[in-house]
Amino acid sequence: MKIAILGGTGDIGEGLALRLAADTSHRIAIGSREAEKAENKAEEYTTELESRGLDAAVTGGENAAVAAEARIVVLAVPPYHVGDTVEAVAEALDDGDVLVSPATGMKRDEEGFHYHKPGAGSVTAIVADAAPEGVDVVGAFHNLAAARLANLDADLGVDTLVIGDDEDAKRTVSDVAEGIEGLRALDAGGIANAPEIEGLTPLLINVASSNDGLDDLGVRFQ
Ligand SMILES: NC(=O)c1ccc[n+]([C@@H]2O[C@H](COP(=O)([O-])OP(=O)(O)OC[C@H]3O[C@@H](n4cnc5c(N)ncnc54)[C@H](OP(=O)(O)O)[C@@H]3O)[C@@H](O)[C@H]2O)c1
Repeated sequence: MKIAILGGTGDIGEGLALRLAADTSHRIAIGSREAEKAENKAEEYTTELESRGLDAAVTGGENAAVAAEARIVVLAVPPYHVGDTVEAVAEALDDGDVLVSPATGMKRDEEGFHYHKPGAGSVTAIVADAAPEGVDVVGAFHNLAAARLANLDADLGVDTLVIGDDEDAKRTVSDVAEGIEGLRALDAGGIANAPEIEGLTPLLINVASSNDGLDDLGVRFQ
């Protein structure tokens, strides 16, 4: 399957691109607001994969161009820009495409990070409101640490909670997630449940920063 990662030039995009390209047969395209930046990053990721003996080419291009070619489009951009990004690529999306939101709005004070719940109820709900008709929205990958994901020497052994109002789209994204070695996808219900999942991310960051040896923390439900 063709998977586009918009903002795949950033931290979580790098981790998802490397893991998906390393562990699955999906074709991964990196998106950026600047085509050349995406092409350069795609080349960097391909070189990293090749250095590990992995023959998995990653391509790159402008966000709308890579979205046009993909069935799954991951919005790996800052939470306050997901709505704009969906609008920027809306015409490139086809019926049956799936938008995936890993984004969490956070604010920081002297005590740590806190969930910044948007007016729509969650970032995933913002994406659902902005998505063109016929395009499904699924939330996933919120609680993964980018650095651990991008370090292909690191074992994952963590879960990702998957939410969505369309069961087929949710299953498709869960199958893609489970293609990553060490990642288990758990169904967490519909988009109405997104705030609980997005709100887990600042908790993980606070726990990681307050406890030695817990950098790049993830969650495993058992
Ligand atoms: N970092 C993590 O550990 C982590 C974990 C789970 C979920 N997430 C979520 O994943 C998303 C991306 O996080 P990140 O840490 O990867 O972010 P990031 O590295 O700061 O940014 C990712 C990419 O977003 C694009 N971008 C920046 N400003 C933009 C704008 N105004 N409009 C559209 N695109 C813009 C940039 O790509 P171009 O300049 O190439 O367009 C950038 O490379 C966030 O919503 C975050 O909540 C992050």
